[in-house]
Amino acid sequence: MRFIFLGAPGTGKGTQASVLSQTFGIPQISTGDILRKAVADGTELGRKAKAVMEAGELVSDDIIIGLIAERLAQPDAAKGYILDGFPRTLQQAAALDQLLSHSAGIDAVICFQVPEDEIVRRLTSRRTCRGCGRNYNMITDPPPADNRCRDCGGEIYQRDDDKEETVRNRLQVYAEKTAPLIDYYKKQGKLHEIDASREIEEVRREIVDLSRRLSLRA
Ligand code: AP5
Repeated sequence: MRFIFLGAPGTGKGTQASVLSQTFGIPQISTGDILRKAVADGTELGRKAKAVMEAGELVSDDIIIGLIAERLAQPDAAKGYILDGFPRTLQQAAALDQLLSHSAGIDAVICFQVPEDEIVRRLTSRRTCRGCGRNYNMITDPPPADNRCRDCGGEIYQRDDDKEETVRNRLQVYAEKTAPLIDYYKKQGKLHEIDASREIEEVRREIVDLSRRLSLRA
């Protein structure tokens, strides 16, 4: 299966993509994770992206499209993938259609819906592992007292773009640049909207059920 997880920041795309990539045996491809690694490694891409990300703005389409084209060409993407945080603009969506024009294309676009107050609460209380990117939440899933990741022992930190003012800007950028993709994929008959304000397990189950129905139809 080839999925796109679409939705505002903090709606749980990364949380679900991480669990479901194991369930389905396909990679989670997160442009945010790829960019954060480039920033941490101090690569040229990271230097270009750092300030843009800290401000909650979008990295340029050219850079992101190049990065995705390279990632989708890797062997582990042959069986399918979950695109988490890509595409985020109409230009990126059109470029993806172009890249996949010789294949069956995307099977489903899952659009995560969560009220804005809940998004702000989730993001300002999120903590992230510097080593493996695992997410914690100070309210629902606090990290261990020694501030080291349960999975890899990495340091737990708060992302610069998870401060409230930047979260509000990210939501505005989402509304202006990414929300138009909802109509784009509705017109392609691929959009599935889900109430992602429910428990993590309930959301996971709904996506698994949906993927079963889609596989049966194929
Ligand atoms: P990116 O890392 O993609 O950030 P995002 O899309 O803003 O998504 P988030 O990671 O903030 O949220 P999420 O939906 O994954 O939620 P999560 O599961 O973590 O991008 C960062 C930046 O990189 C962008 O601002 C941009 O600058 C750049 N960038 C990336 N892709 C780009 C692109 N394609 N084009 C241009 N620029 C790009 O959950 C959030 C919190 O809620 C966690 O603490 C989690 O534990 C908790 N939680 C999750 N689900 C639930 C639930 N059901 N109930 C309660 N709590 C929950």
